[in-house]
Amino acid sequence: MTEKIAISLKSLYKKYGSLIALNNLTLNIFEGEFFGFLGPNGAGKTTAIRIITTATKSDSGQVFLNGFDISKNPIKAKNSIGVVSQYINLDMELTCKENLVVHGMLHNMKKKKVLERIDYLLDYIEMTDKINVLVGKISGGMQRKLMIARALLHEPEILFLDEPTVGLDAHSKRKIWDVMVKINSENKTIFLTTHYIEEAEQLCNRVAIINEGNLIEIGSPENLIKKVGAIALDVFNHDDYTTYFFGSREEALEAGSKMEGKIMVRETNLEDVFLNKTGRRVKD
Ligand SMILES: Nc1ncnc2c1ncn2[C@@H]1O[C@H](COP(=O)(O)OP(=O)(O)OP(=O)(O)O)[C@@H](O)[C@H]1O
Ligand SMILES: [Mg+2]
Repeated sequence: MTEKIAISLKSLYKKYGSLIALNNLTLNIFEGEFFGFLGPNGAGKTTAIRIITTATKSDSGQVFLNGFDISKNPIKAKNSIGVVSQYINLDMELTCKENLVVHGMLHNMKKKKVLERIDYLLDYIEMTDKINVLVGKISGGMQRKLMIARALLHEPEILFLDEPTVGLDAHSKRKIWDVMVKINSENKTIFLTTHYIEEAEQLCNRVAIINEGNLIEIGSPENLIKKVGAIALDVFNHDDYTTYFFGSREEALEAGSKMEGKIMVRETNLEDVFLNKTGRRVKD
């Protein structure tokens, strides 16, 4: 990983009526990072992605993509990114190939290049046999993969994915994870939004936790966990439990031995970090 900044956000602010959807979001994402934007429903994840990828305007603040200010150099900024939106926006009446061809035309790509890229990318996502199949006839997991292939067609350096695994079965989810890991291993920067803790924990080298438009914490999953305390002690009382955090198993056991109720000592996870910082669970 280099230290070149791929995405720079400066004080992004967005209101919908009286609701603050993004509250002065400032952060830098470095080239080659697999960056996670973790937050519950309504946290502001899609709002952030839409602003960064120029689909929506912020009320104030700045976005730089690959060094280009999106308001001053929108075309250059846009050419350096690929976007997989939260909702499936493929043309169901067209084949997989036709959907990709349309995207190539929108990006003014040469026909020969488009056809080469289609062959390459369909092989990359293991869907070569679906090239001439109508998109409406393939599974939801395949549609997601096709959206990823489409986002990569014009060879962007940065890929944005807005909750790409929501609603998929475990197998399809795993396939999407594999594709994202492969893309990132080719030094492409990934910006992934998710409300799945394990997705952020397993895939991302750095995570921003957001809640109600605010950036709560940012760091590697390991560091965020260490900051809260690597060992969690759950103390059960009646139907409820309280969690306490410690630096080591010994400290947790020592404290637990003095408490009333059933105790459980375990490793802290990102869900705990989220709960500890926001008082909310990230899951629906
Ligand atoms: N066009 C809009 N008009 C009014 N309010 C909106 C609009 N878009 C989003 N919001 C509100 O802004 C807040 C942030 O929404 P956003 O879609 O960015 O959240 P999210 O983190 O992507 O959530 P989800 O996990 O449900 O996709 C929510 O309270 C939402 O209701
Ligand atoms: Mg969303």
